[in-house]
Amino acid sequence: MQTLKLTVNGKPFHAPDVRPHTTLLNWLRDQGLTGCKEGCAEGECGACAVLVARSTEDGGTRLESVNACLVLMGTLEGQEVITAEGLGEPGALHPVQFEMAVRGGSQCGYCTPGFVVSMAAEYYRPEREAGTAHCGPNGFDIHALSGNLCRCTGYRPIQDAAYALGAPDDSDVLAERRAQPAPAPQAIHLHTLDGEFHRPATLAEALDLLDTNPAAKLLAGGTDWGVEVNIRHARAPVTIAVDGLAELRGLTWTNEYLEIGAGLPLTEIERRLGDRVPLLAEWFPQFASRLIRNSATLGGNLGTASPIGDSPPVLLALDAGVVLIGKTGEREVKLSEFFTGYRQTVRQPGELIKAVRIPLPLAPTTGFFKIAKRRFDDISSVAVGVALELDGDIVKRLHIGLGGVAATPIRGTQAEEALTGQVWNEKNVRAAAKLLGSEGTPLDDHRATAAYRAAMLEQTLLKFYFEQTRQGVLV
Ligand SMILES: Cc1cc2nc3c(=O)[nH]c(=O)nc-3n(C[C@H](O)[C@H](O)[C@H](O)COP(=O)(O)OP(=O)(O)OC[C@H]3O[C@@H](n4cnc5c(N)ncnc54)[C@H](O)[C@@H]3O)c2cc1C
Ligand code: FES
Ligand code: FES
Repeated sequence: MQTLKLTVNGKPFHAPDVRPHTTLLNWLRDQGLTGCKEGCAEGECGACAVLVARSTEDGGTRLESVNACLVLMGTLEGQEVITAEGLGEPGALHPVQFEMAVRGGSQCGYCTPGFVVSMAAEYYRPEREAGTAHCGPNGFDIHALSGNLCRCTGYRPIQDAAYALGAPDDSDVLAERRAQPAPAPQAIHLHTLDGEFHRPATLAEALDLLDTNPAAKLLAGGTDWGVEVNIRHARAPVTIAVDGLAELRGLTWTNEYLEIGAGLPLTEIERRLGDRVPLLAEWFPQFASRLIRNSATLGGNLGTASPIGDSPPVLLALDAGVVLIGKTGEREVKLSEFFTGYRQTVRQPGELIKAVRIPLPLAPTTGFFKIAKRRFDDISSVAVGVALELDGDIVKRLHIGLGGVAATPIRGTQAEEALTGQVWNEKNVRAAAKLLGSEGTPLDDHRATAAYRAAMLEQTLLKFYFEQTRQGVLV
């Protein structure tokens, strides 16, 4: 069996006994690094947050926070991890730890190392220091802490600590570390009594492995599969990690389309696109938390084929295609034809999702509506993506993507057809909204009733109309 090697808090570690489903959280705690805690084991509380070193586009390092409870050890071959213990220690506190202590940001302390790590990730975010962010008084984006829960301190002192932070000083080794390259993803093949874990070096190698093991579990960010492993004790005889494959991490603009690699974490897409695709820019902050977005991928979101996944309504509105690749070549399937039934897709054994393609030019007016019980970090009851192009006041192009109202994500075709070629006015939109409310086969469940879901569909189209007209898009 191959021994896994990684760096933790600047020190080399050998992990000879990791198994395919060993999480970073459990492994760290076994090494005595008990700062990171298990609160939920499903990515909800952030008590397990750690930093990982990732490459920047200019060859430096970005320190990003992830949920250690969802990271499988096999993905960390040759990688670098920093825990709360690696930031500072009693007598030599890190500035984040110091501010949390002096501003009363900690009571029982269970959540504190996780908050400290998420805060440190934001502290070292280069854009914050450059002053380009404009979230808090010091450029601190408080949403960096959106994946961390505290049950006893209250969030005000924690926010005070965050907003008190200055810039790292010249003696800060982690700030200096950012100028050096991050470790590149490295291949590993673990053969254990509990199964195999492969982290192939190339896409060709991944496809060979998938061809030999068509039932293998593909692993990208692990934010879905990690929950299955921890909470439902799911186990895969063979796991193939694809998140590190360079071929799945591209972001390319052509004249015809924008192609986004299936293995790029959402945070990276968000950063690299900025506002260039307004619908995606509107959607990203509503997806989970920063901790989850630092790992979660589009390939994983579509790979789950969940009817309540949030990317399908957005990507259906953008009329996106899914690029599937296997040993015999690649093919593009429209997302509207990708889902074939509850958690089923047209993906064949031996194929994986390589990328998502968004046709250009983009529709000029878009909107995303996520109806959930909480504003942030919640699963949607209903999600609607809308993309509209007008020719004067006539609807030239309208795509509506719906999630949460059928066994698969669907298009709002009745409303699309009713409005296309018609005048974009209140009367027509109201009639189309009624049709939208009758789309799909919504269910009653613990999140919402069928009647509520139908009502929300109708309301979102009206909301889209009134928001756009009030903003002067239509006069
Ligand atoms: C706390 C929390 C909050 C969440 N909030 C949201 C939310 O707001 N909205 C939402 O939609 N989801 C949410 N999720 C679910 C999850 O984060 C997303 O589905 C995410 O996009 C999964 O991506 P991943 O890379 O982590 O997938 P993984 O867990 O690695 O994989 C998920 C599935 O996709 C398959 N897969 C992965 N990559 C590929 C590929 N390239 N080709 C084919 N199959 C592939 C895997 O085999 C697996 O079945 C949340 C999860 C958690 C834990
Ligand atoms: S233990 Fe709760 S997010 Fe990891
Ligand atoms: S300090 Fe107790 S949970 Fe946050």
